[in-house]
Amino acid sequence: MFTPQGPSLRELAVQALSSVERGYDLLAPKFDHTPFRTPDRILDATAEALRGRGPSEGLFEAGLDVCCGTGAGTGVLRSLCRERAVGVDFSAGMLAAARQAAEGRPGTGPAVTYVRADARALPFAAAFDLAVTFGALGHFLPAERAAVFAGVHRALRPGGIFAFPVAAPPHPRSALYWTLLGFDAVMRVRNLLWRPPFVMYYRTSSLGAVRADLRAAGFAVELVPVPGAVRRPGGSPSWGLLVARKP
Ligand SMILES: C[S@@+](CC[C@H](N)C(=O)[O-])C[C@H]1O[C@@H](n2cnc3c(N)ncnc32)[C@H](O)[C@@H]1O
Repeated sequence: MFTPQGPSLRELAVQALSSVERGYDLLAPKFDHTPFRTPDRILDATAEALRGRGPSEGLFEAGLDVCCGTGAGTGVLRSLCRERAVGVDFSAGMLAAARQAAEGRPGTGPAVTYVRADARALPFAAAFDLAVTFGALGHFLPAERAAVFAGVHRALRPGGIFAFPVAAPPHPRSALYWTLLGFDAVMRVRNLLWRPPFVMYYRTSSLGAVRADLRAAGFAVELVPVPGAVRRPGGSPSWGLLVARKP
């Protein structure tokens, strides 16, 4: 899972004992060499599933990547948006790494602007017709999701969509099920014993709960199958795309 260019065990331990923001500041230079960066196959499949859903010939005008980290999802925005792509994150270190990576990746599509802000208080109003987020929902306690979703809803224009991948729940007889259960248990103990807390839970963002919170924020929600999604041993897709539309 970790490559030699990735963080050492000691570095990971120091990061895990920091706050979320400080932890990511420390991890930033090596983040792209960890399994926490969203893999390109998920980013590419997301872009494909969203192509055709925008208001101008299937494309979008302006896109926002919430909790953009080192910029993994901003490539999705650049491939789908004609005018503007914005990445928002509260870790200055992650944003610095994103800006540096973008310099070596000219590519096509609009240049990305990076904004430092807390996703629980997004500073945008009716500015985007697409918002995405990758790999960050577990950083919000269930009670915090309402503020995140309300901020995304406010940031979108009418008809705009907020899309993100959701993993299918692993089977209780799979190794993944027990790995995630174990991770969350260790995190809960850590957060009982240590300050500042590091919020990252895999099992608090069930599809049902996230759907209900999106609806409460005013979105119409649809789960979109992704043709290229890797299949689980039983044949079911391992993930799908949640597409929430602001009416
Ligand atoms: C696992 S990384 C994912 C980064 C990127 N989206 C990706 O898929 O590779 C989670 C990111 O969420 C950011 N984050 C966590 N809580 C946040 C908050 N309250 N406001 C803004 N960013 C936050 C972290 O700083 C980090 O960059």
